[in-house]
Amino acid sequence: MSTHPPTPEEFRRALGQFATGVTVVTVEDTASSGAPPRSQVHGMTANSFTSVSLEPLLVLICVDLQAKILPLLQKKRRFGISVLAAEQQDLSRYFARSEKSPEAEERLGIRYRWTENGIPLVEGTIAQMACQVVAAHVSGDHTIFVAEVQSAEIQGGEPLLFFRGKYRRLAPES
Ligand SMILES: Cc1cc2nc3c(=O)[nH]c(=O)nc-3n(C[C@H](O)[C@H](O)[C@H](O)COP(=O)(O)O)c2cc1C
Repeated sequence: MSTHPPTPEEFRRALGQFATGVTVVTVEDTASSGAPPRSQVHGMTANSFTSVSLEPLLVLICVDLQAKILPLLQKKRRFGISVLAAEQQDLSRYFARSEKSPEAEERLGIRYRWTENGIPLVEGTIAQMACQVVAAHVSGDHTIFVAEVQSAEIQGGEPLLFFRGKYRRLAPES
């Protein structure tokens, strides 16, 4: 085994061996133009979602310093996590795009529901969690948001997986 630090490409390939689920992080995005202001949703595909603690109930997400969702997370300090189902690859691709629009969301049939605290969640996903940020740490080129889970719902279904840079699904149980 080589002892030199991996190149970014080697790092990416090594990390790609770790299979994950795929989530959409959602934040309220209050459009300033127009009266009255409309509450919109900004979503971002994320597989950095991880559980952190049971007491209190904490999770984390890592957000690129370049991501458009970052200033919204810093401002609102609350977000939704929606876990994508195996057949929701198109949603994962959409929320990983830099350009998003209400028209594209309409075409894809994306619907949101709102918690009482103003946290948007993506309907039709296999699980949703409403999260309140308790800490943010800038680490390298990402910000780690640690958040308390305020509510969680499970609809069930098979998960979408991400492995070696590709979407996968679970094999049937043998
Ligand atoms: C499967 C998958 C997982 C991703 N996970 C993350 C992640 O955990 N954190 C992150 O910052 N970007 C992640 N991305 C990239 C963002 O989804 C992408 O940069 C997106 O355009 C950012 O949206 P925004 O700039 O509108 O906020 C992921 C992309 C894919 C396809």
